[in-house]
Amino acid sequence: MRPWAYTPLLLLAAGAPAGRQIVLHGNDNGAMPCAACHGVNGQGNAAIGAPALAGMQAPAIVSALNTLAASPNAPAPMPGIAAALTPRERQDVAAYFSSLPKPAS
Ligand code: HEC
Repeated sequence: MRPWAYTPLLLLAAGAPAGRQIVLHGNDNGAMPCAACHGVNGQGNAAIGAPALAGMQAPAIVSALNTLAASPNAPAPMPGIAAALTPRERQDVAAYFSSLPKPAS
């Protein structure tokens, strides 16, 4: 067994509480609370085209945020929001959303 293989998982689990804070309240760098559009349970909001994030794999969320942050011409609001998150905060919100149960569809 290679205990260090679990380090990324442990780091992700540790980030969830910090992620919850950002999801519900935003950060002080201008990122709006994710919950305003994606829902407090990450269930998404079809009316405004905000996809469900609950239960998504954390690496997929991080990678989507990285892409959005690097695509200033992509449709608002996500490029600005993603760019307002530090790499660490992207990991934290991803850890939180991935820890939530997938919405029933
Ligand atoms: C003002 C509304 C709004 C807020 C606030 C918001 N989002 Fe979004 N988000 C959207 C919309 C609309 C989309 C779909 C269009 C797109 O992908 O850009 C989206 C897409 C995404 C995607 C892409 C999902 C996929 O499967 O491709 C991710 C990841 C995401 N948001 C994360 C976040 C996070 C994390 C926050 C909080 C820091 C946040 N969003 C805040 C409206 C919002």
